[in-house]
Amino acid sequence: MSNRVLATLRLPGPAFAELGGPAIVALAELEPSGGVEALIVANEDVGDAVLDLLPDLRVVANFGVGYDRIDVEACRGRGVVVTNTPGVLDAATADLALALLLAVQRRVVEGDRRIRAGGWRAGWSQGTLALELAGSTLGIVGLGRIGTAVARRAAGFGLRLLYTKQVPLEPAAERALGVEWRALDDLLAESDSVTVHAPRTPGTVGLLDARRLSLLHDGAVLVNTARAELVDRDALVRELVSGRLSAGLDVFWDEPNVPEELVGLDNVVLTPHIGSATEVARFGMTRVVVDNVLAVLAGRAPLTPVG
Ligand code: DGY
Repeated sequence: MSNRVLATLRLPGPAFAELGGPAIVALAELEPSGGVEALIVANEDVGDAVLDLLPDLRVVANFGVGYDRIDVEACRGRGVVVTNTPGVLDAATADLALALLLAVQRRVVEGDRRIRAGGWRAGWSQGTLALELAGSTLGIVGLGRIGTAVARRAAGFGLRLLYTKQVPLEPAAERALGVEWRALDDLLAESDSVTVHAPRTPGTVGLLDARRLSLLHDGAVLVNTARAELVDRDALVRELVSGRLSAGLDVFWDEPNVPEELVGLDNVVLTPHIGSATEVARFGMTRVVVDNVLAVLAGRAPLTPVG
């Protein structure tokens, strides 16, 4: 089966072996290849240029839940199904969102840096005081699976929870989760911290633009473990450089590059797109990718098609 499958990366975990050792080829080095029926990618640019090289392709299996760099329409037009890996990385990503929120709000990384630089001179009773999480308001932009996992965790910290969602929850579901719906502008104006959990689509790119960021109050924290493009890069950099806002960022506009202006800032915590980087999540993602590929190659419906 291995010559029927092509991957741009070796996936972690035991399930990958079930594909019989597919060739690993970067998309930039792809050559015309007849007989390849399945292509495994990690949210890379798959469009007509790639599809032209793989005339027998039947499935593009994405290693990840976000598939915004895959041209689903172009695939559909050629009868190629696209799959992703929903459900298995919610806990890992929600944990990281909370970790970033805590790290920024309680200045964990800044403190660590100060100690390592020999800058802790006064006793414990001196220094800037942070806003306590309990009793503060967290706005969740996008209450899907990951946003919901964030809400459950945040409730344990005593945060008041606001959310946006295209179709709001029923009142009973809101009560059960302890969340209140707000229009996006109102959520931004009312929140002490905001965490983003929406997919990148034409409708969400630039969602948090300069005007919307300006609705956040001085000292508010923005956490982004979703996609950088949901936030206007220049506007956010300005707000962070000025020190008016703080942020915990796991995703960037031109990964693996990070805006230079952010690197020296104490009010920003940066992580290298590690939202799903736990063994359970990544092995689970591999399991879903492999099951999707095997299903399509066997002529069955994929488990988690998109679109
Ligand atoms: C995803 O699943 O889309 C993430 O960005 C990878 O962790």
